[in-house]
Amino acid sequence: MCASKRSQDQGRQSGATSGDRFGFTRREFIKSWSAGGVALAIGHNAMAAEVKQPNEALAGDEPVQLRLNVNGKSHAVLVEPRWTLLSVMREQLGLTAAKIGCERGECGSCTVLVDDLPRYACMVLAVEAEGHRIETAEGLVNGDQLGAVQASFMKEDGLQCGYCTPGQVMAAEGLLRHNPNPSFDEIRRGMSGNLCRCGAYTNIFTAVADAAVLRKG
Ligand code: FES
Ligand code: FES
Repeated sequence: MCASKRSQDQGRQSGATSGDRFGFTRREFIKSWSAGGVALAIGHNAMAAEVKQPNEALAGDEPVQLRLNVNGKSHAVLVEPRWTLLSVMREQLGLTAAKIGCERGECGSCTVLVDDLPRYACMVLAVEAEGHRIETAEGLVNGDQLGAVQASFMKEDGLQCGYCTPGQVMAAEGLLRHNPNPSFDEIRRGMSGNLCRCGAYTNIFTAVADAAVLRKG
């Protein structure tokens, strides 16, 4: 099934006619990065305001030294300006929870939190992520203990193959940080940027509702 068809199907599943997520439609989202080529804004412009502008130092493929704050740890990395946050996390930092799916901002399998907001890591350049707090599904685990959202996905069987699950978990985590008591419709809208090829939406939404209760405990 093509990506656009999946997107339409997922939109129907979610009940969202235009992918509205945190008050920002999928169409607006696509425009935001294609126009500026930078900020992955899902309803927030803060990151866009701080995005580095292209300049001579970042031109071409000359490596740039950066520090990335991922899951509370600061990492020094040497990256080319064109490299995405997703590829740097996976290939340089060994953090592989965020998955490679479409690599063009459609599927959500690469979702991470940037300053508590869900972002598609395939659409964020590593150089844009410096100075921001990045969180992946690895960061929700405390020792052997899963985070509340992860535990709820396990309990409610919110997955089948599991490929989309880390992205779904981070989208849910971002949603619940901003709305600890979402209605079912708010959950469906909040999760509308994340596709599941297995169609496990019913259990995914139930897991998010369960996580909202668990987080309060
Ligand atoms: S890999 Fe599909 S949105 Fe990033
Ligand atoms: S559980 Fe298989 S893609 Fe979602």
